[in-house]
Amino acid sequence: MIRLNCRNVEASIIGTENGLELEKEFDNYQETITKIIANLNQRKDKPGQWLQWMNLGYNEETLWYVKEYASMVKNRFENILVLGIGGSALGGLAVTEALLKPYWNLLSEEQREGLPRIFFLDNIDPDSISGLLDILDLKKTLVNVITKSGSTAETMSQFMIVKDRLEKELGDNYRYNFVATTDKKTGVLRQIAEQEGYKTFVVPDDVGGRFSVFSAVGLLPLALVGIDIDAILKGVKDMDLALKNTDIRENIAAQNALIHYLLDTRKGKNLSVMMPYSSRLKYVSDWYVQLWAESLGKNKDNDGNDVNVGPTPIKALGATDQHSQIQLYNEGPNNKIINFIRVEEFDNTLEIPNIFEYTGIGYLGGKTINQLINAEADSTRVALSDYNRPNVTITLPKVDGYNVGQLLYMLEVQTAIAGELYNINTFNQPGVEQAKNYTYALMGRAGYEESAHVLNEKMSVV
Ligand code: PA5
Repeated sequence: MIRLNCRNVEASIIGTENGLELEKEFDNYQETITKIIANLNQRKDKPGQWLQWMNLGYNEETLWYVKEYASMVKNRFENILVLGIGGSALGGLAVTEALLKPYWNLLSEEQREGLPRIFFLDNIDPDSISGLLDILDLKKTLVNVITKSGSTAETMSQFMIVKDRLEKELGDNYRYNFVATTDKKTGVLRQIAEQEGYKTFVVPDDVGGRFSVFSAVGLLPLALVGIDIDAILKGVKDMDLALKNTDIRENIAAQNALIHYLLDTRKGKNLSVMMPYSSRLKYVSDWYVQLWAESLGKNKDNDGNDVNVGPTPIKALGATDQHSQIQLYNEGPNNKIINFIRVEEFDNTLEIPNIFEYTGIGYLGGKTINQLINAEADSTRVALSDYNRPNVTITLPKVDGYNVGQLLYMLEVQTAIAGELYNINTFNQPGVEQAKNYTYALMGRAGYEESAHVLNEKMSVV
């Protein structure tokens, strides 16, 4: 199992001004945490609670359909192209980066054992879209368009461009190059997919985008490139079982949620840095940033009070960002908690040759890069605590499907518990709607004429 070390948030280590008396706080909050966990588990099957993500590890039916489709299209495509944004892309991106061989798309077909390359188009930069479409042979590409709402402008505009090109190249048969993942009944994409005859998968009811990685949203792209999705879901289920434990001392998601909440509300530490010491986990930070930010950044609490809460998440990468951000974290404002992720065993052991023995770099010779990266992780967390900066370390025995499944699920539960502590709605995102509506208005969508009028006036003032 993955582990959490919270020693460096203890007041005895970093002082009472910045740290917490954890044993005391665990006692104080035990009853609250018990209630939160029991409540989440009671509510999870009720429609409208947006807690269906807690059941995704057990969805054998989806697993079966995903595997069946992946085996059906095996060897038929050179590339997988995922069209999606936010929660519809970040989970798949984070897990493929973690679990595929590094530089996957640069490997030869033989090195990939016949499995396709995979590309995520999660932005609407005209240059990068054109650049990617220039290098992909669309005839040999399976396009997985993913959108829960079925109408997100970024995803649908990409879809329209790719569909148009594919149809011109393949005629009616273009439909076999599309697989849509969307709501089971509603939305424009669902309608189009049915009319045009695309294979479809469902984004389950009551699962928000940022909590959808273990539904077909994440699982399908992973299965298409040969990732062992059974191992991932095994990790999810084992973690789910562990996190049903209401004893806070045994529940790492509850511990880290409480630590973040108390450090924010009592000690003014409202920035949460996610810093894996593993390039393969780099996009886990991007995924975490969205999860934490969209879930916890809210202006009203559940009782309707104005609160404007939410710790700001920041992504970092060890050891790279030691040479960029750590100066600020050690000596700048003491307003953060740093989450380190440390990997115990890497797939490769890379020895540093014993050359230049009698020079200033001689001490590196005979050691391994593995030792170096973990020495840097350890020294950075100790140095931070010397500066009285709170930090926790999540340890992954290995970067594999089982542990990555555990990690992501643990962070989802941590977010849900933090949301309950802040007493806010973790699962909505009203704050992104206003700009979306303005975009519709600017792009001339019917029904948004009034917004267009207001917007034009406001833009001219600016
Ligand atoms: O987490 C979320 O709900 C969002 O980030 C959505 O995933 C994102 O806005 C994309 O929405 P959709 O899947 O409807 O295209």
